[in-house]
Amino acid sequence: MITDSAGYLKKVDTACDYIRQHLSGCEVPKICIVLGSGLGPLADLCEESAEILYSDIPGFPSSTAPGHEGKLIIGELSGKLVFMMKGRFHYYEGYAPEDITFYVRVMGRLGVETLVLTNAAGGIGEDFTPPELISIEDHISFMAEPVLRGPNIEEFGPRFPDQSYVYDREYLALMSECAERLGIRIRKGVYAYTKGPQYETPAEIRALRSLGAICVGMSTVPEAIAASHMGIRIAALSCVTNMAAGITSAKLSGEEVIEVAGQASEKMCALVSSFIKNL
Ligand code: HPA
Repeated sequence: MITDSAGYLKKVDTACDYIRQHLSGCEVPKICIVLGSGLGPLADLCEESAEILYSDIPGFPSSTAPGHEGKLIIGELSGKLVFMMKGRFHYYEGYAPEDITFYVRVMGRLGVETLVLTNAAGGIGEDFTPPELISIEDHISFMAEPVLRGPNIEEFGPRFPDQSYVYDREYLALMSECAERLGIRIRKGVYAYTKGPQYETPAEIRALRSLGAICVGMSTVPEAIAASHMGIRIAALSCVTNMAAGITSAKLSGEEVIEVAGQASEKMCALVSSFIKNL
């Protein structure tokens, strides 16, 4: 939990200054895309102008999750200037919510207006054939450590932010349109956030299903909460890499998640590129 609001804000602004000084003459992008497990190849479609290692940005946590490289890329995707985060931070790595969301605060303070979050997730329901894509329309996170607990930093947003439309309605519609034009099947639904690193039990999945979730994963939601707190518009895509625990008799593995996410990366790249183009 943040206890020193002024100190945290200063840390965020110091990271912003560092990034501004390393943009290689580019303007500050208004869009940030976060590449989840196995989805790194989207960065290859980006005409890169600058690359900053997370480890060089003052105050930035370091990325330890498999498939998360730990680099901030600045470049053009579909003719628009973007930040690309190659790797994010998770609760299961040992980070506190304010570390996981530190980059979101930095992006918000830099002037980013659109955040595109991607992740790998387990599919809740018998009718998934992984890999499949889901456009996240809402989330469930009340089992998780609250992101905004502690003193509110007014520079970020209000004490009690509304969560009725965390995922932007126009972006959801645009994502569906882009998918349709590309002939990519995509569903809309609720993502359940779990803290990990252990996968869920079949009983937990049955519980999440009865609550209305169609997919489950260990990322995205803390960032979405921080971004919505700052008024940043969010689009979020899950790649269903496996059936959630207990849906079939198959055991779950981190290696399978990365491999199957890799199989979907072409579709995911095409979809995100088209979405950015049509923003
Ligand atoms: N559960 C949680 N996180 C995940 C899963 C899952 O089944 N698949 C990919 N990330």
